Amino acid sequence: MRLNSPKMNVMHKACMKASKSLIRDFGELEKLQVSTKGPGDFVSAADKKTEKILIEELLKAHPKFGILSEEVGEINKENKENRWIIDPIDGTMNFLNGIPHFAISIGYEEKGEIVSGIIFDPIKDETFFAEKGAGAFLNNSRIRVSNRNKLKESMLVTGGPKPDSKKRDLIFQEYINISNLVDNSIRKFGSASLDIANVACGRFDAYWQWEIKYWDIAAGLIILKEAGGYVDFLGENKEVSNNRNIIASNSKIHQDLAKVLTKIY
Ligand code: IPD
Ligand code: CA
Ligand code: CA
Repeated sequence: MRLNSPKMNVMHKACMKASKSLIRDFGELEKLQVSTKGPGDFVSAADKKTEKILIEELLKAHPKFGILSEEVGEINKENKENRWIIDPIDGTMNFLNGIPHFAISIGYEEKGEIVSGIIFDPIKDETFFAEKGAGAFLNNSRIRVSNRNKLKESMLVTGGPKPDSKKRDLIFQEYINISNLVDNSIRKFGSASLDIANVACGRFDAYWQWEIKYWDIAAGLIILKEAGGYVDFLGENKEVSNNRNIIASNSKIHQDLAKVLTKIY
């Protein structure tokens, strides 16, 4: 790996170990699609298994660090200085349906700020990682956001809304509004962490989503920033809420996109 810090090594090792069982489980899914029970229970077991391996590895290295993880919640809650933020499978619906687009995401937070992170796509074997002040990488190459500066020509990606969102209709309406401003259709890939990672390496120009959870984006925040991108939160207090409204962009189209987005909040 191009970044050789102790924290990065711990995150990387945990990802590699957990992904072995995840890849095996993904391979097993095909058989389950035809069984009467369906793959739902199996996937939730795979999710928990992946999370367990990640947590065991991270705690082995730093037993006192805090952890916030999607399935188990908080561990070592009293530690506010050092904390891992984990999403064991980001892109569960893809995983469940046999679509090879999901990732393990781990962010590392110091005194409330994400200072390093890793997003690992085990199927494409793509590891996105970054550390504050040291740049962002995809596998062993340095990555940068795109240069596109016209919203009209941009490639945008989004996710949601959640079925229970109170803003569901507005979010759909906004999606239509933005679609009318851009030449290319907006993409929806179903994995927020990979959406941000793909902005960081210039495949997309911007990603936005309403009501996203912290574990979906934690690692992505530092990867995007270190790749020269810009992250912004809209319409809520990002310090207290686990439901965030995010725009993550190449920075050049940020203002134009933000202007349209802030209209619904
Ligand atoms: C979901 C994915 C999806 C986003 C949802 C998330 P999960 O995470 O990141 O892209 O639109 O809001 O909940 O459930 O697959 O971990
Ligand atoms: Ca997620
Ligand atoms: Ca998840």
